[in-house]
Amino acid sequence: MQDQESNHEEEPILAGDLPRHIAIIMDGNGRWAQRRGMERSLGHREGVKALKPIVKESTRIGIEALTVYAFSTENWTRPSEEVDVLMALVVEFVASETHELKDEGVQIRTIGDIGRLPEAAQQSLAWAKNETRDERRLVLNLALNYGGRAEILRAVNRWREETPPGSRMTEADMAAYLDTHELPDPDLLIRSSGEFRISNFLLWQLAYAEIFISDKLWPDFDPAELRRAIRDYQSRHRRFGGLG
Ligand code: IPE
Ligand code: IPE
Ligand code: MG
Repeated sequence: MQDQESNHEEEPILAGDLPRHIAIIMDGNGRWAQRRGMERSLGHREGVKALKPIVKESTRIGIEALTVYAFSTENWTRPSEEVDVLMALVVEFVASETHELKDEGVQIRTIGDIGRLPEAAQQSLAWAKNETRDERRLVLNLALNYGGRAEILRAVNRWREETPPGSRMTEADMAAYLDTHELPDPDLLIRSSGEFRISNFLLWQLAYAEIFISDKLWPDFDPAELRRAIRDYQSRHRRFGGLG
């Protein structure tokens, strides 16, 4: 009943003013589980389940790229059992969802230092990227062993190795050497679980992103909440430092 009511009240997404690239900090899996007296790992399992409907809805709406924060450079400090579960879930997600995502026109990519992930995760990600490399409808960009600071340092160091001594780096050089080099900057950053922080995500790229904080814990984040975030985005007045 309540669902019907909220559907009825839902306003349509305006096609003309869509974010091209949405970045999501998928936070709150542990709290979701703990509130139910469950182990944190079950929260992560539910969190993975929540991702597919969001990818599908983004594809349907016409979003070009979705970058999701799945594992940060700081998440290695968690207990090793939790880290192992998260890595196993990466392999599971890729194995079970790649074909369906491919059918939806989704290209799977990653950002972050993937070379530090367990071999099994590296192999399944390489397979999924190759399998979906010709898809053009939506880029699903998985941020794994990702940290904004580490990414900037990797970019600067690689640029320095490949550039004559004495050169000066430009903003365009930086953008070209970051892991996200083929994507536009995110227009919209969504964080679930009500936390108001960036936690080392896309530090360079989020310079002018609009921010939407959702109180829902990530396993409860559904397509209706995604549409709410997009409608909120559509009500913003982006000025980029100018007068608009
Ligand atoms: C997000 O959920 C998933 C990862 C960081 C891998 P959390 O595990 O951070 O959940 P909370 O914030 O403890 O609830
Ligand atoms: C950010 O969430 C990282 C991911 C969602 C993968 P965290 O739970 O790690 O961030 P903090 O510790 O609350 O800042
Ligand atoms: Mg968290």
